[in-house]
Amino acid sequence: MKYDLGSIGIHMNLQYECITTTINSKKEKNSAPFAFIYLGGDKVMCRIFEGSKSLMNIQEQKQYVVNITQDPMIFTLSTIDILPDEYYTDDDDIAILKDSGAYLIIDVDEIEMKTPEDFPIKNDTNIYFITGTIKDFIIRDESIKAFNRGFSGLIESLVNCSRYKIVDGAKRKYYKNRLEENRRVIEKVSDDKTKKAMEILTEEYERN
Ligand SMILES: Cc1cc2nc3c(=O)[nH]c(=O)nc-3n(C[C@H](O)[C@H](O)[C@H](O)COP(=O)(O)O)c2cc1C
Repeated sequence: MKYDLGSIGIHMNLQYECITTTINSKKEKNSAPFAFIYLGGDKVMCRIFEGSKSLMNIQEQKQYVVNITQDPMIFTLSTIDILPDEYYTDDDDIAILKDSGAYLIIDVDEIEMKTPEDFPIKNDTNIYFITGTIKDFIIRDESIKAFNRGFSGLIESLVNCSRYKIVDGAKRKYYKNRLEENRRVIEKVSDDKTKKAMEILTEEYERN
């Protein structure tokens, strides 16, 4: 089946920051942010480092839910693992956030372990590539869009550019390093338009 994830701002092979909710056999629910990639058709993927509770629940249940939200509290409380129970729907066999603008229920097809040599981000930790199939796609809020952090990086670099022009020494170096980091992220997660905008901005930094 083909899904139109474009309506929630999700385009193929780009990376979006979403909230993944899972449940374990003891009916304990869990929530954490992970990057979500739409592969086209009804196929999706995410990558999760070893040691995550979400990973254990996904390995056990072979299912997870991707919640589309831009709520700062949900992102924060989920990251530090203190999201209260009242954020979830009353379902006792699946973990879904009550207030997400949209959500996708994913059935896991394959979980493949990659060693640090295959995927060198954290030196000594394995990462699991999880591919899955969209089982259900629910939109609650027609205006919801998934969050792409490339755009934040571009905006930060634009703000920094005006400062870069009027400072020197360590501050100038700091803004240049931030530009490099944001360029790296944009190359990884952004669409062509954001990449092009970053190219133009980089030339502007180089002129100053
Ligand atoms: C915006 C955001 C995106 C993240 N993306 C990932 C990711 O794609 N893979 C990963 O392993 N960790 C990612 N993390 C880190 C996990 O969310 C974090 O380790 C979390 O504590 C795991 O929680 P858990 O043990 O409940 O699964 C991300 C964190 C944030 C804030």
